[in-house]
Amino acid sequence: LTSTDVLSRAAELDAADPLARFRERFVPSAKVRAYLDGNSLGRPLRVTRERLGTFVDQDWGGRLIRGWDERWMDEPTRVGDALGRIALGAAPGQTTIADSTTVLLYKLIRAAADAQPGRRELVCDRDNFPTDRFVLQGIAAERGLRLRWIDVDPAAGVTPEQVREVVSEDTALVLLSHVAYRSGWLADLPEITAVAHQRGALVLWDLCHSVGVIPTELDNWAVDLAVGCTYKYLNGGPGSPAFGYVRAELQDRLQQPIWGWMGADDPFQMGESYQPAKGIRRFLSGTPAILAMRPMIDMMELVEEAGLPAIRDKSVALTEYAIALAEHLLTPLDATLASPVPSARRGSHITLSHPNARAATALLWERGVIPDFRTPDGLRIGLSPLSTSFAELAHGLSALEQVLTELANR
Ligand SMILES: Cc1ncc(COP(=O)(O)O)c(C=O)c1O
Repeated sequence: LTSTDVLSRAAELDAADPLARFRERFVPSAKVRAYLDGNSLGRPLRVTRERLGTFVDQDWGGRLIRGWDERWMDEPTRVGDALGRIALGAAPGQTTIADSTTVLLYKLIRAAADAQPGRRELVCDRDNFPTDRFVLQGIAAERGLRLRWIDVDPAAGVTPEQVREVVSEDTALVLLSHVAYRSGWLADLPEITAVAHQRGALVLWDLCHSVGVIPTELDNWAVDLAVGCTYKYLNGGPGSPAFGYVRAELQDRLQQPIWGWMGADDPFQMGESYQPAKGIRRFLSGTPAILAMRPMIDMMELVEEAGLPAIRDKSVALTEYAIALAEHLLTPLDATLASPVPSARRGSHITLSHPNARAATALLWERGVIPDFRTPDGLRIGLSPLSTSFAELAHGLSALEQVLTELANR
């Protein structure tokens, strides 16, 4: 195949794509020719504009404070249950929307560590997302716990064997990302969870880069705890609240450290001391972000309509095509793939390493082609199956070929 053949395959792939029609449901962005960063911030849906307007006029404007009694108090767990059903493989009563990923990580790591008092170690990998590592470091300092770091290849990620080597009778919790933010490595979540459980450790999965794009079976895989953000493949918008999952059997055993009135047994009793609510509500702290939960509901409906298995199929086809394009157009310009080649181990983005990645990203942004840059030399290409076309991807990577050529000739 020549580079021209590879580029012209985009039209065929789009014509054969059963999800192609969903692209029109998103707000168009006139000056953006290729949006390759839906793995950082998903595009808004057209329907969201209208529904936010209705919410302002009718729900907020019309019901005013009565909205809390009528509907909003239960919104975090109602939306959590829907997310559990549509994207997480979680039965009702185990998922809630709340806070940010960072704050939920803090609450769940603390709760898990405190529930395993004889165990003094927390396990994580050195290439996990900074907020995960930082929160873990803070808790280790606060509680006098030790950190056990797994070293990983930054172009790959954590394996069950590596986890087996470090997890011991002293491990309270293993914290890992389902999909690595840098390489796109898709961890073997069921196997790693089983390995940790064999030693009696709990596992907390960060699903930021997999929720809404990779079918997940949290209940069947016996996951203990999970968190994730909703602004990537759930298109919740900048700063939309996160979600947390706590396996039903664990809920009574865990006490999270931010004792707020919304997680109390009866928030309106205004009692003297804190009694945690029963079930998943005890993981709430303060007033839920009702307004900021609206857009993710629209996207969850779309994910359900398209079907998560079909979304995953398109995600694999997009990343495979991205790798083929990169091989033909960018390898000759010294770019290297820093992501897994087998699709079973790859999430929905790939990273290309190149010494000029930072400058190339800046030039691409000026030209309406939007990937992102991750230190030290990574150019991340995020593929959001419901809003990205193959032609858009081909355009984006040809533009990258062009800027890398220009930079090499400077
Ligand atoms: C794996 C992972 N964890 C956490 C976060 C962010 O956490 P927060 O939503 O609290 O900023 C991100 C954001 O990109 C992420 O990729």
